[in-house]
Amino acid sequence: MVEKLWGGRFEASLNKQTEEFGASIKFEQRLAPFDLQGSLAHVKMLGETGIISADEAGKIADGLTEVEQKLMSGQIEFKIENEDIHMNMESYLHDEIGSMAGKLHTARSRNDQVATDMHLYLKSVLTEVLSVLTELRQTIVNLAVNHVDTVMPGYTHLQHAQPISFGQHLMAYYQMFTRDFERFEFNVKHTDMNPLGAAALAGTTFPIDRVLTTQLLGFDKVYTNSMDAVSDRDFILEFLSNSSLLMMHLSRLCEEILLWCSHEFQFVTLSDAYSTGSSIMPQKKNPDMAELIRGKTGRVYGNLMGLLTVMKGLPLAYNKDLQEDKEGMFDSSDTILTALSVMTGMLSTMTVNDVNMESATQKDFSNATELADYLATKGIPFREAHEIVGKLVLDCTKKGIYLQDVSLQDYQKLSTLIEQDVYEVLKSRTAVARRTSLGGTAFDSVKSQIEQAKKELQI
Ligand code: ARG
Repeated sequence: MVEKLWGGRFEASLNKQTEEFGASIKFEQRLAPFDLQGSLAHVKMLGETGIISADEAGKIADGLTEVEQKLMSGQIEFKIENEDIHMNMESYLHDEIGSMAGKLHTARSRNDQVATDMHLYLKSVLTEVLSVLTELRQTIVNLAVNHVDTVMPGYTHLQHAQPISFGQHLMAYYQMFTRDFERFEFNVKHTDMNPLGAAALAGTTFPIDRVLTTQLLGFDKVYTNSMDAVSDRDFILEFLSNSSLLMMHLSRLCEEILLWCSHEFQFVTLSDAYSTGSSIMPQKKNPDMAELIRGKTGRVYGNLMGLLTVMKGLPLAYNKDLQEDKEGMFDSSDTILTALSVMTGMLSTMTVNDVNMESATQKDFSNATELADYLATKGIPFREAHEIVGKLVLDCTKKGIYLQDVSLQDYQKLSTLIEQDVYEVLKSRTAVARRTSLGGTAFDSVKSQIEQAKKELQI
C-alpha cells in the first residue's frame, strides 16, 4: 500500500471505492507539466527567500527536472493511490531525492497548487485557441475575397428575402468569430493571474515572495486575496461560456453548410476529405463533420452548465467540489480546438457553386423590395408601394411568372411611373450593387469590410 501524504491523523486505510471516487489522477494527467512548472517556481522562491537552504532548493529543483524528463520519455506511471497529480509528482520526486522531497510543500497547499496548475493550463490553451481562431477568421476572409461577386439568395425565416453577396454572408461570420476572439482575449486577463502562495486559504506564516513566483511563472499579476485565489473558478467559467458562444457560431455555420450541400440547394460541395459514405447507400456523401461540430455544441453547453451548478452554492474557500472543474474544461478545450481546425479545413477545401447560387435568385420574388423601393423613389408612399407590389406578386404567383416577366405594358397599367429601367432594377445583381448603406451587401461595401478585416488580421 502507498502511504498517504496526509496519512498522519488516520488509523485505518481508505476504502477502495472511496479512494477511486476521490482520485482525480484518472483525468488530470495532462496537468503534470504545469504542476512541475509550478513546483519549480515554488522551490526556487523557497531557496531565494531562505525558507529552505539554497542547497536544498537546488537538489529539489534537480529532482523535479529528473521527474520532468521521465515524464517526457513516458516513464511515469500515475497511481490512483496517490490520488491526484500533485501527490503523484511528489511521490516521484521522493523516489529521486528521498525525504528532502518533503520540503517542497513548505508554505504551499494543494489548494493553491491546483489553482496554479489550472491557470497555467488554461493560459496555454487560450494561446492556442486565439491562434486557431485567427486561422479560421483568415480562411473566411480569403473565401470572402473570392466571392464578393457571387450573388445568392439572402434568407429570413429560411425564405428567399433579398439577394446578397456570398461575401457579405461570410463576413457576417467573420464578425461573430472576431467577437469570440475578443472574448477569449479578455479571458486571458483573468487567467493570467497567480494564485500560488495563497496556501490552503489564508496565506502562510512563511516569508514567501509571491511577486517572485509570479515572475517565474510568467503570470501578469498576482491574486490580491488568498481566499479568492483558491476558490475562484471564474476564469474557467468564462472560458466555458466563451466556448459555448463560439460553438453556437460554429454550429450555425455548420447548419448552413448542411443546407447548402443538400440536393435541394447544391450551393457548395464539400471535399471528400471532410465527408463520409454510407454503408448501405452507395450514392451517399455525408457531411458528417459539419453535423458533428453542430452536435458537439451540446457537450460544450453542458460543461458550462455543469460547472455553473457546481459553483452556485459553494461557501469559501476550497471545497472538494472544485475538483469537478477539470473534465469539463479539458473536454471543452479539446472540442473547440478540434472543431475550429476542422471548420477551417472544411471551408478552405469546399467548392462554391456560384452559378447555382446566382440562379437561385432568378426564379423567385427576392426582387420584390426593389420594385417597392423603385415606386417609393418615384414618390409613392412606401406602404402603398408595398401593397401594389404585394398584389402583383400574388397575381404573378397565380400566373406562374416572376416580376421580371411582367411586360412594360402591364407595369404601366399598374403605375405610369414605371419605365423600361425597372428591368435593370429587378436584376438580383443590381439589387446587391445598390445596397450601399453602411454595412450593406453592395459589392463595394463587402470589399471595404474585407479591407477592414485584413487590417485587423494584419494580412
Ligand atoms: N484534486 C484536487 C482538485 O482538483 C486538488 C486539491 C485537493 N485539495 C484538498 N484539500 N483535498 O481540486
